[in-house]
Amino acid sequence: MPVVLFAAPSLWDEYKDALPRALTEAGVAADLVLEAAPETVDYIVYAPSAPLQDFTPFTRAKAVLSLWAGVERIVGNASLTQPLCRMVDPALTEGMVEWVVGHTLRHHLGMDAHILNPDRRWVPVCPPLARDRPVTVLGLGELGRACALALAALNFPVTGWSRAPKSVAGLRCLSGSDGLHQALHGAQIVVTLLPRTPQTENLLNAATLALPARGAVILNPGRGALIDDAALLAALDSGQIGHATLDVFRTEPLPQDHPFWSHPQVTVTPHIAADTRPDSAARVIAQNIRRAEAGQPLLHLVDRRLGY
Ligand SMILES: NC(=O)c1ccc[n+]([C@@H]2O[C@H](COP(=O)([O-])OP(=O)(O)OC[C@H]3O[C@@H](n4cnc5c(N)ncnc54)[C@H](OP(=O)(O)O)[C@@H]3O)[C@@H](O)[C@H]2O)c1
Repeated sequence: MPVVLFAAPSLWDEYKDALPRALTEAGVAADLVLEAAPETVDYIVYAPSAPLQDFTPFTRAKAVLSLWAGVERIVGNASLTQPLCRMVDPALTEGMVEWVVGHTLRHHLGMDAHILNPDRRWVPVCPPLARDRPVTVLGLGELGRACALALAALNFPVTGWSRAPKSVAGLRCLSGSDGLHQALHGAQIVVTLLPRTPQTENLLNAATLALPARGAVILNPGRGALIDDAALLAALDSGQIGHATLDVFRTEPLPQDHPFWSHPQVTVTPHIAADTRPDSAARVIAQNIRRAEAGQPLLHLVDRRLGY
């Protein structure tokens, strides 16, 4: 019977029923433990908050299964030689689509003007139709693609940008550094759903923030480090960027004295765009263990070279 070490003790309460249930549903008989001699462990269920940092003694482990989609805090760990799988969970994707569509529509429809209208001003200005509001989604992975397609289904003309060239029906797909320039040029809403890697750090900076249409909106549910904070604040102050709705930050929780909190054109959401949901995430973990035990390839493997 494989030994599954749940190495994210602070999350145990959320998973203590869901994971055994999912393993049973998947037909996997496993010994699910919170502690074990490292050399006896077959699978490690992991979260960035886990105290476990040295994977060297886990000589038998067949996989490290992350409960998080973003793996930047573990991917560079030199002691980790076991296959690393990230979380790709339909419920997480659904949550992200809802957050991105909701915040896109808030800005597209100018909802704030009506929700926050203490002076009872009657200003009947209609928003343009979605078909006239170009949106760019940076990142066309599990989350970016789903969000891009949901926005395209609402008639937004959507451009998606990725590292490798792609073709997705209903989207204008661009890639590489030339593609980034084109993808941002004239965009009115920019959504960042990239992983944090050395290549994506500060991708939105003074130069790239100058490319979208004046007054464009930035939605960042990806990672805080994708944006140069000072450049974003300058672009907001100059009016080049009209609003930024940010879910992720270089330091979380966002420090109380960070200028994002008080900037009138910034909305802060506390890293809630897409939470991992224990029931569905447990099923993803259990399926991967089932596959590995059956000799099938693991799903959602991280490419260490690319860092995501
Ligand atoms: N706020 C939240 O609650 C929350 C929740 C979950 C995840 N996230 C964040 O969302 C990120 C994306 O998740 P995902 O599951 O969609 O990841 P994914 O499936 O790995 O997709 C990543 C996308 O980014 C693209 N990319 C990576 N490096 C690039 C580069 N240098 N230039 C251009 N494109 C690049 C990839 O291009 P290719 O397709 O060409 O490889 C891919 O399209 C995660 O890494 C995490 O940081 C946030």
